[in-house]
Amino acid sequence: SQLKMFVDELPDMPKILGFDVVNGIPVSKSLQIGMFAKKWKFHRDLPPTRVFAYGTSNNTATVPGPTIEALYGVDTYVTWLNYLPSKHILPWDPTIPTAIPATKKGVPTVVHLHGGIDEPQSDGNANSWFTRGFRERGPTWTQKKYHYYNIQQPGNMWYHDHAMGLTRVNLLAGLIGAYIIRHPDIESPLGLPHGKEFDRPLIVFDRSFRTDGSIYMNKTGDNPSIHPQWQPEYFGDAIIVNGKAWPRLTVRRRKYRFRIINASNARFFKFFFTNGLRFIHVGSDSSYNKRPFMIKEILLAPSEIADVIVDFSESNSDSAILANGAAYPYPGGDPVDKFNGKVMKFIIKRQREVDTSRVPKRLIKYPSPDLSSAAATRYIAMYEYTSPTGEPTHLFLNGKPYEAPATETPKEGTSEIWNVINLTEDNHPLHIHLGLFVVLEQRELVDEEKFKECMLKINNAVKCQISKYARGNITAVPAHEQGWKNVFKMMPGYVTKILVRFAYIDSNASYPFDASAEPGYVYHCHVSILFGFSI
Ligand code: C2O
Repeated sequence: SQLKMFVDELPDMPKILGFDVVNGIPVSKSLQIGMFAKKWKFHRDLPPTRVFAYGTSNNTATVPGPTIEALYGVDTYVTWLNYLPSKHILPWDPTIPTAIPATKKGVPTVVHLHGGIDEPQSDGNANSWFTRGFRERGPTWTQKKYHYYNIQQPGNMWYHDHAMGLTRVNLLAGLIGAYIIRHPDIESPLGLPHGKEFDRPLIVFDRSFRTDGSIYMNKTGDNPSIHPQWQPEYFGDAIIVNGKAWPRLTVRRRKYRFRIINASNARFFKFFFTNGLRFIHVGSDSSYNKRPFMIKEILLAPSEIADVIVDFSESNSDSAILANGAAYPYPGGDPVDKFNGKVMKFIIKRQREVDTSRVPKRLIKYPSPDLSSAAATRYIAMYEYTSPTGEPTHLFLNGKPYEAPATETPKEGTSEIWNVINLTEDNHPLHIHLGLFVVLEQRELVDEEKFKECMLKINNAVKCQISKYARGNITAVPAHEQGWKNVFKMMPGYVTKILVRFAYIDSNASYPFDASAEPGYVYHCHVSILFGFSI
């Protein structure tokens, strides 16, 4: 039997302020946020589901977790506490490099603030994991209390688990939450819709359930005769927004701001409204655009964020369905069906409203990337190796696995050009910790097979004469994605050229922490595997 759509109200996740106010002055705050095993109702007609949830107590923990609202210039400290049981609720694949506690007990976890510009010891390195009560700790673990500086550009981030080899199952279990940095001096004058009712995160992901309510994840691999457990990507049939399957929200005839986070493991979304309503796109990932862009659809890869205004007074109907048109895997996979092609429903009140919010012509302009200042040019090739026996496919960067020593060692305060060469068949959302980047160009490879052959032999893009192959068609980067981002979609068969800045995008201030300290930072595809770099 199928779940009925649009019967649950869209929840708002609990809000936690990342600062205190003393005598009218905001001061830093230390939070304790736990990870709890509990049951969560994803749908009216589905029995409660066993999940892992973030919260300040087991009772108040939610999926997604609470939205942390930080204030520019005020430090937030979080002690993340693991209260999880000794066994995972989802299948655990021991054949991939995984954080395994010596006692084989406990669920390793570690939290990464995605988009945060923070010290490496607070960045949630995959090997800085810990189990319940910090009983066991990974090799790069250093501290219980994480420090978030909140002195970067205002915008949207999310926190999620990042433990070695377990990230995908820990996220599937529910370890996900939104984090916003607000900078009222800069943002209030913009006049965008604000306040609890008109400014809300929408955290979207896909899950499959068994009839008893439990999260369904196949225990056997996609190809069990080759490998018992390996499934490179997870796709669920139910689309969940703020913890409810296909929810509904009654809205007024006015503007709303939605901060849409794709928290899926592997599903891309191509969002659009069935009644033709448009999005006014004001920000991408963790930063504002220089100006708003009116668009009909938004392609969002796993971990990308779109900050949009929707003006329901423009609607010519009393309801609008937010739908999805992205094939899975993207772009070459199955087309969406009547279930995963729908996201949520907006019921629009008839009566017109006085709406004092506005969308200004100019938003926030950050310095453009300065190509002439690039301190280094790097080539990063992604390709899959499949052994002759057809063992699980490994996604390597320049032929190196995650365990290899850090290869990229940029210097603080500099910018670099990275040419990311995607020789796989899938679109990979590349995420770089610490550094923000601007996408400069996406150019198709010609004679890709020949180039790949050379790379498989000598693993060196320059020696394989990349410039001879990188001369195919250019696919334009959509205008609303030309600003500073922390994730971008690396098209298969393309070289994507980006300029990464290892400094704040809105000032030349240096980092207030030692970015060259251990354990460094990582960059990775948000669908699967991790790689390291240090500053
Ligand atoms: Cu959103 Cu390294 O992660």
